Amino acid sequence: MRRQRIGRTGVEISAVGFGCSGVWGQGFFPEEKARALIHAAVARGINFFDTGHNYCAFQAEPRLGRALREVFAERPRGDFVISSKAGTTLARAGLWTGSRAAATDFSPDSIERTLEASLGNLGCDYLDIFFIHGPRREDLSDALLGRLVDLRRAGSIRAIGVNTHDLGVMAFIAQSGVPVEVALIDYNLAQTDREPMIARLAAAGVGVLAGTALAQGHLLRRSLPRPWRAGDWWYLARTLLKPASRALAIRARAVRRALRREGVALTLEQAIGTVLANPGVAGCVFGTAETAHLDAVVAAVEHPLPPDQLARIRRALGQVSPGGGGE
Ligand SMILES: NC(=O)c1ccc[n+]([C@@H]2O[C@H](COP(=O)([O-])OP(=O)(O)OC[C@H]3O[C@@H](n4cnc5c(N)ncnc54)[C@H](OP(=O)(O)O)[C@@H]3O)[C@@H](O)[C@H]2O)c1
Repeated sequence: MRRQRIGRTGVEISAVGFGCSGVWGQGFFPEEKARALIHAAVARGINFFDTGHNYCAFQAEPRLGRALREVFAERPRGDFVISSKAGTTLARAGLWTGSRAAATDFSPDSIERTLEASLGNLGCDYLDIFFIHGPRREDLSDALLGRLVDLRRAGSIRAIGVNTHDLGVMAFIAQSGVPVEVALIDYNLAQTDREPMIARLAAAGVGVLAGTALAQGHLLRRSLPRPWRAGDWWYLARTLLKPASRALAIRARAVRRALRREGVALTLEQAIGTVLANPGVAGCVFGTAETAHLDAVVAAVEHPLPPDQLARIRRALGQVSPGGGGE
């Protein structure tokens, strides 16, 4: 699979990274299947695995660690890019969100403790990218940024990242002198309002990664939930219960409709290929609980989108108002 360096870091990732959250990390999703997906991703050339310390009620990170121990038994750790996140201290990436104050701790000591726990869970001596998870601008204090620089100097992390859906936080990161090197943002064809900010971040040397490249699946045609598949019900519950997911679903449906009016019936290749064609984007992260879907994504990014197709989609997108922000 194509690889690209992220911004000014020395970290090189496959065009798509595998996101270890969502259904993949849930207790009801069989461990065997979750591990098989990691091995399948490795076999297909994916070298980047992203998770979060609190993802899936703290179950996703140790699950990824168990799979990685098997992978590292056969391949050097240095062949892979592993990222995780700190700052959210409750099971906030689950379906229910509690009060923000009770769910976050961005103090340098807490962030460092979380990093140590993540390294233990993942069976790694270092993380390639360590993301601060969903901070407000004021959470990115000088003390925190200074501690992250120390951790990088000590070799516990290779690159400092921020995972944010907040344009104000992105603007802060794009300023010179801020030591953040990677921004993991919500960018997909339903959130093209991010494009001017992506250009700004890239110009500042910040590597941009598109999380939710498929708009949580809402850009693709969906079958009705299959009653026997717990994962289908989980995705439906996420859409209904999380305001940001609900807004994204509505927005993605509007974008698909508008594109159809312009004669574009959006395919997986087009959805992901358009994101990757953005020169400011170093790569994207997607999630799946199905090997067939993994295969389809890997095939979809094998070749860049032909320029004429890209131009047609951009033309059609031009008829749709850019939107829309996440939480
Ligand atoms: N969601 C967020 O707000 C967020 C925030 C921070 C970081 N991230 C990172 O980004 C990663 C991806 O986020 P995400 O999983 O929420 O969004 P996503 O990758 O945009 O979408 C995942 C959805 O797309 C479906 N899908 C995947 N491949 C498909 C295919 N080939 N054909 C049809 N459907 C397909 C999945 O269903 P199946 O399981 O049925 O394939 C799932 O419903 C996370 O794991 C995390 O690492 C996400």
